[in-house]
Amino acid sequence: MIEPFRIKSIEHIKMTSREERVKFLEEAKLNVFMLRAEDVLLDWLTDSGTGAMSSAQWAAIMLGDESYAGAKSFFKLKEVLNDITGMEHVIPTHQGRAAESVLFGAVCKKGDIVPNNSHFDTTRGNLEFIGVEAVDLVIPEGRQPATIHPFKGNIDIGAVEELLKKEKDRIPFGMMTVTNNTGGGQPVSMANIREYSQLLKKYNKPLIIDACRFAENAMFIKMREPGYEKKSIKEICQELFSYADGATMSAKKDALVNIGGFIVLKSDQWLDSVRELLILWEGFLTYGGMAGRDLEAMAVGLQEGIDESYLRYRLRTTEYLGEKMEALGIGFVKPTGGHAVYIDAKSILPDMPVEHYPACALCNALYIEGGIRGVEIGSVMFGKRLDDGTETYHNMELVRLAFPRRMYTQSHLDFAAETLGKVKSNASKIRGVKITKQAKFLRHFTAEFDWV
Ligand code: F0G
Repeated sequence: MIEPFRIKSIEHIKMTSREERVKFLEEAKLNVFMLRAEDVLLDWLTDSGTGAMSSAQWAAIMLGDESYAGAKSFFKLKEVLNDITGMEHVIPTHQGRAAESVLFGAVCKKGDIVPNNSHFDTTRGNLEFIGVEAVDLVIPEGRQPATIHPFKGNIDIGAVEELLKKEKDRIPFGMMTVTNNTGGGQPVSMANIREYSQLLKKYNKPLIIDACRFAENAMFIKMREPGYEKKSIKEICQELFSYADGATMSAKKDALVNIGGFIVLKSDQWLDSVRELLILWEGFLTYGGMAGRDLEAMAVGLQEGIDESYLRYRLRTTEYLGEKMEALGIGFVKPTGGHAVYIDAKSILPDMPVEHYPACALCNALYIEGGIRGVEIGSVMFGKRLDDGTETYHNMELVRLAFPRRMYTQSHLDFAAETLGKVKSNASKIRGVKITKQAKFLRHFTAEFDWV
């Protein structure tokens, strides 16, 4: 691995002692969401909006045209997106979930069904908010952490066809998330997107792509799918979007910016109602909740995000940490995804009962041992306390380490591997936790814990 950039401006990170970290964590009620970011050494909570912008992006910021209507910056962004996606209509929004709420608000109604490989939380939330059923139909391999498959994000075409046969009148469009974040950042193959699109066409249904990590997905296609070895990333992206009728995107991922999002649409079928909600909720057609300078940074970021040497380094990052974990005998979702590694907490804490929340315990141990912040994806996030006081648990206990783009170096990853090794060899000393306070919905963000 070699970082295809050099560092021009740095941000200090604070070294802390183990004793300090225990104190910080206890003050945060053993919930890493409640830590102050300045007390974290390697912050791998999310890859969303946390990356480093390039000098070219910072320079573009100075060109931002802050006109309310018809800003020059909008037309720059539109030109870039027209080129990469082949879609005519560009509707800027302030982030991904805003793109979702505007599009779904304009197109969906109560009682509808939307199939997807896996809906991200906010996508599901925005659909369910208007009474739409969000159905996840990823292939069976996509649900098995240890099973190796080159495109674990693929949608189960047979299952979609069955749904279309039964419920076609309730389905306004089909969705596809690239890469499949909820399933471990796993890619979707071009063949699968093509087949899905053809199937939807047969039933006269549009295809909408959740395009957050489209560039990472394109790089996986180039590396793994026969016939694409010699194609440029842009050509692969253009083909991928050619099968779709529209897309929503959080630009905080592969567009390499700290804030921003958009909708793109091929035809003007939904345009009037989308524009109406955009103006109501986000802003005028040419800025949609963003400053002109943000549009500039995004226009540059989108082009840097499809650079092959950057993407090669990017996908190598997760693979590299995966190799280190394999050598340490630590289990994880295989193969490693594009933006994150998902550690199987049970492989480090095989004897810890699920009632002691092993993924949360591992997350805390990583912070105490090395100041690393990941996120629990297990029974705290997906379990529930029922009204009779009993608990439901999740079938997997994972810790996600998601990597901000262009921010951490190989030696940070080496340090993480060392920390994981120490955590594993001292696993018998890791303490489980119990919940002392929790919210009814999305409890993982604010729950308070005590040591068991
Ligand atoms: N779709 C996917 C696939 C995402 O991963 C996210 C965000 C969104 C939509 C929503 O975008 O945050 O800009 O409103 N994922 C982040 C994460 C938060 O940590 O995985 P947003």
